[in-house]
Amino acid sequence: MKDALTPRETVEQLDRFIVGQDKAKRAVAIAIRNRVRRQNIPEELRDEVIPKNILMIGPTGVGKTEIARRLSALVKAPFLKVEASKFTEVGYVGRDVESIVRDLVDIGYRMVEREAFAEVEDEARKRAETRLLDALAPTSSEQTGRPSWLGDLFNDTEDAPPEPERQEAQYELERKQRDQAQRVREFTRQRLAAGELEDQAIEFEVEQSQMQNLQIFSAAGMEEMGFDMQDMLGSLFPRQTSTKRTTVAEARPVLIQQEAEKLIDTQAIAREAVRRVENDGIVFLDELDKIAGRESGHGPDVSREGVQRDILPIVEGCTVMTKYGPVSTDHVLFIAAGAFHTTKPSELIPELQGRLPIRVELDSLTQDDFERILQEPENSLVRQYTALLETEGVEIEFTDDAIAEIAKLSQHVNEQTENIGARRLYTLVERLLEELSFVAPEISGQHITIDAEYVASQLADLVGDSDISRYML
Ligand SMILES: Nc1ncnc2c1ncn2[C@@H]1O[C@H](COP(=O)(O)OP(=O)(O)OP(=O)(O)O)[C@@H](O)[C@H]1O
Ligand SMILES: [Mg+2]
Repeated sequence: MKDALTPRETVEQLDRFIVGQDKAKRAVAIAIRNRVRRQNIPEELRDEVIPKNILMIGPTGVGKTEIARRLSALVKAPFLKVEASKFTEVGYVGRDVESIVRDLVDIGYRMVEREAFAEVEDEARKRAETRLLDALAPTSSEQTGRPSWLGDLFNDTEDAPPEPERQEAQYELERKQRDQAQRVREFTRQRLAAGELEDQAIEFEVEQSQMQNLQIFSAAGMEEMGFDMQDMLGSLFPRQTSTKRTTVAEARPVLIQQEAEKLIDTQAIAREAVRRVENDGIVFLDELDKIAGRESGHGPDVSREGVQRDILPIVEGCTVMTKYGPVSTDHVLFIAAGAFHTTKPSELIPELQGRLPIRVELDSLTQDDFERILQEPENSLVRQYTALLETEGVEIEFTDDAIAEIAKLSQHVNEQTENIGARRLYTLVERLLEELSFVAPEISGQHITIDAEYVASQLADLVGDSDISRYML
């Protein structure tokens, strides 16, 4: 439990980027913490604790997806964000929802693999340096043939030294060669360590399976079945090595990777990946509202109810075959979200509703929230644009009344046209700074204060025009 975030810490982290929406933040923070708690209870009970899946409901552009994005960076668990609506898109028709689990376990695998790599990195680095050294200065035992500089010396001719002396001379010669090779190697090692040989050309071996051609037909559809053609057929084809010629600098990362691969145990990684997905995995099902309702709407949509029925087993708990083995979703946490504008959660099939017991509503954003969103988050628009223009030597500063004015206008435009929440701030601020963004290189060195008047002047056509939609849609 010690290095897992407490609910309060999770909320604090989310606060860095998302304004308000406290209920949603608390709900996800508790759900995440419950995962860790479950790991620490007696085994008999552990299986009984099923995840309390969450459904976040709230208008467009108020932070649902943003919470998911930030959460994924926070949790040290396999985390997949997927749009439920994607399963209704043309082109995805028939795409099986089991890919959710396969994608999640892929993420889990890469996560565990990264850790495994980090563990062997020092050793892999050391071995890679040795291989570089081998390529630059082979050891004497690897040198074969008679050095050309010997010329005619010690040829089996009449004036060759008598037998014992000849032996002696040969030993002496070999000793010298060894010494010399050793000195060359030591010299090379020092140069290499000092970074002086980075541009040297070297040759090294790369393993290459004859799979390249097979990728053509493996890509289309086989993956859907959970098989990895590469893995399956790879063992049927002999691995071939080929020699690659490149510089020391370019070879190093490749060699480190090669050595690391030799040091890690991929099967152990696969087992751990599956274990983590089954116990800690989190799936964020975005745009769930898009598959609510019975009818398919129009066009070549797949039936929405059909998609819900497809997704249901995954959410309820089932076992999916993946290339790392069977994965059970019984304890995977699902966090669903949707605007539910035109559809309601009650239009989801009952079984799916039942699987999303925790409902949190996100609030619509007020003018006050807009003011805060403009400035407070670490990635706020004001910070972003200030930094961007700073690269041109232009310093911009927003006065409080300018911020208030932008927030007020955003609110106004949202009311007059479509309410797209905080996304409105993006369109307005972009427009507000259009002129400055254009001329910035020409006014380098200037300090520009953006006040309410400036906002009003730049966005005058919006304020004056009642038919705002002409501009904003
Ligand atoms: N409460 C908030 N605090 C900070 N930024 C926000 C907030 N709400 C929305 N934003 C910003 O507005 C943009 C849109 O938000 P987001 O993608 O989370 O909307 P959403 O709620 O998922 O909407 P939709 O239902 O349309 O998918 C994001 O770039 C996000 O940073
Ligand atoms: Mg969203």
